[in-house]
Amino acid sequence: SGFLGKGLVNSFLGGDDSTGTLTSPAFTIERIHINFLIGGGKYAGQTCINLVIDGKVVRTATGPNDVAGGSERLDWENWDVTDLAGKSATIRIVDERRGGWGHINVDQIVQSDRPQRFEPAGRELVIEKRYLHIPVKNGGRKVRMKLTDAGRTVREFDVELADGNADFQTFLDLEGFRGKRLAVEVDRLPIDSKALDAIHQADEVPSAAALYSEFVRPQFHFTSRRGWLNDPNGLVYSGGQWHLFYQHNPYGWGWGNMHWGHAVSKDLFHWQELPIALYPQRYDDWCFSGSAVVDVNNTSGFKTGTGDLLVAAYTSTGRGECIVFSNDAGRTWSEFAGNPVVKHAGRDPKLLWHEPSQSWVMALYDEFENKQWIAFYTSKDLKTWEIQSRIDGFFECPDLFELPVAGQSGTSKWVLYAADGKYRLGQFDGRKFIPETEKLQLWHGNFYAAQTYSNAPDGRRVQIGWGNGIEFRGMPFNQQMVLPVELTLRSTADGPRLFAEPVRELAGLEGPTRRWSEVPLAENENPLADVRGELLRITAEIEPGQADFVGFTVRGVSVRYDAQKRQLVCRGVAAPLMPVDGVVTMEIIVDRGSIEVFGNGGRTALSVGGVLAADDRSLKTEVAGTGARLKSLKVVELKSAWK
Ligand code: FRU
Repeated sequence: SGFLGKGLVNSFLGGDDSTGTLTSPAFTIERIHINFLIGGGKYAGQTCINLVIDGKVVRTATGPNDVAGGSERLDWENWDVTDLAGKSATIRIVDERRGGWGHINVDQIVQSDRPQRFEPAGRELVIEKRYLHIPVKNGGRKVRMKLTDAGRTVREFDVELADGNADFQTFLDLEGFRGKRLAVEVDRLPIDSKALDAIHQADEVPSAAALYSEFVRPQFHFTSRRGWLNDPNGLVYSGGQWHLFYQHNPYGWGWGNMHWGHAVSKDLFHWQELPIALYPQRYDDWCFSGSAVVDVNNTSGFKTGTGDLLVAAYTSTGRGECIVFSNDAGRTWSEFAGNPVVKHAGRDPKLLWHEPSQSWVMALYDEFENKQWIAFYTSKDLKTWEIQSRIDGFFECPDLFELPVAGQSGTSKWVLYAADGKYRLGQFDGRKFIPETEKLQLWHGNFYAAQTYSNAPDGRRVQIGWGNGIEFRGMPFNQQMVLPVELTLRSTADGPRLFAEPVRELAGLEGPTRRWSEVPLAENENPLADVRGELLRITAEIEPGQADFVGFTVRGVSVRYDAQKRQLVCRGVAAPLMPVDGVVTMEIIVDRGSIEVFGNGGRTALSVGGVLAADDRSLKTEVAGTGARLKSLKVVELKSAWK
């Protein structure tokens, strides 16, 4: 990227091993500058562009990249050729290098009176309004932007700053800086760039009136107002609110600049996004994933107010595992002075209170001796931590919790869960996890880095996952959370297993409902021809009979039970599901950007991303073969949580 027009010189011809030279006709040096765009390998004399006069190389430049890495972006370079005025010259582009970065990319070689190059740029602003609107061009040149207050850096991050047309406006929250004179600086802009002029102050976030009514905005799955999100973090119930913190890039559509975003809800569907909860302490010390608890007994001694004391643990990429606390319902957080509390290779601390041993436990993803583990640390006060044990074979974002086995009073199991949604059941004594099963899998598809709520009322185990990879192109936001589910452990023929069902609060979004029973299904017939809907909750009890497959086409997307393979299938995501007494049940939840499918009351769960065709609101049955029947069917129209 970074070249202009339709073509460029690119010596990556079938790979890095191609070599050769490309030489221009002779020309006369008529201006004082030669500007060009260059990218590729940083090997002097080997991957370069040369200015040649009388057979001698008088100027040379390489690309910017070597084994340390880089990007395939071309950027401006410039030669001052004042001393060569009037000479006859040629340009020779050279690739004599094989292997990594053994290529050179050049474009737009121009004689000019003015140099084309990058320089640091800046602007001063007296802050009069709450928000700074910053135009972003997806895939544009990344600059490092810094805001300073009398020389002290108050924000620093990367941003694909638009230099011309923007894809969207992001915003920086400058609450607390009103009246101050801040300098906005970027590390490099083309010398004539007007990019900084387009930054402006406003009392409202960009497009405030249109917020949440963007045409593909998910209507009941959580998305951030703008920017990127990934893992749910710090899931804690407190003061009648479900807190959802999350991995957040406030300044770009892609991953980066990790902050903790924050939203709260009374019912897990109507979310109110709050200001950012955790800002990085400095550039390159990002706030990675973590968790939060209510320190009911003030074991940490951080309590100052009368409300719940919230304590969170997160990975500071520059320091280690850190503790922060909040006495104002998660609105503002203070760093524990003794941070970091754990230093190791790893991340993603999950805190829990272990009642029998009256201790805090931190389950951590740990890269110990080049293996991937979950490590268990314990503490009495959330400040001093001691390692107790490790179990290997788990990658990122651990979760650990105990659940009763439904219907077996007095029996409970511990669930050890990692980012990919695979879990093992076993026992945990506060120090060591003893597995009793192999890895099991409940969720399939666009699902990653899930976490369950601490302190949830009534012993509920509510889980939210990240719908990783669910993209919203053309929107100011990207990625969504998966539907909140309640986890239970139920006995099955294979032993106890985790089940996931949409939380009961989803009923609060239910609108008009239609029901059917005992509907025979035949190929090319559609008993649902008069049903229309955009946001849907469909519950079906299906008898496949002798059919090869049976299911629905929901707004053009097939969601079916493959009776041959005994799988639920939607958009290429397949999950095993066995009929129970000849019946499978499917619960299908349809939003604008995804479909979730729960099989047999949550025995298996699918999260399947992909924006649905806005103009297709149809519902059809689909079947191949004979004897299939819908024992029962309920189609509920769901309401938007934003309206
Ligand atoms: C999982 C993860 C975590 C990390 C975070 C960074 O998706 O890679 O391990 O803390 O995302 O955003």
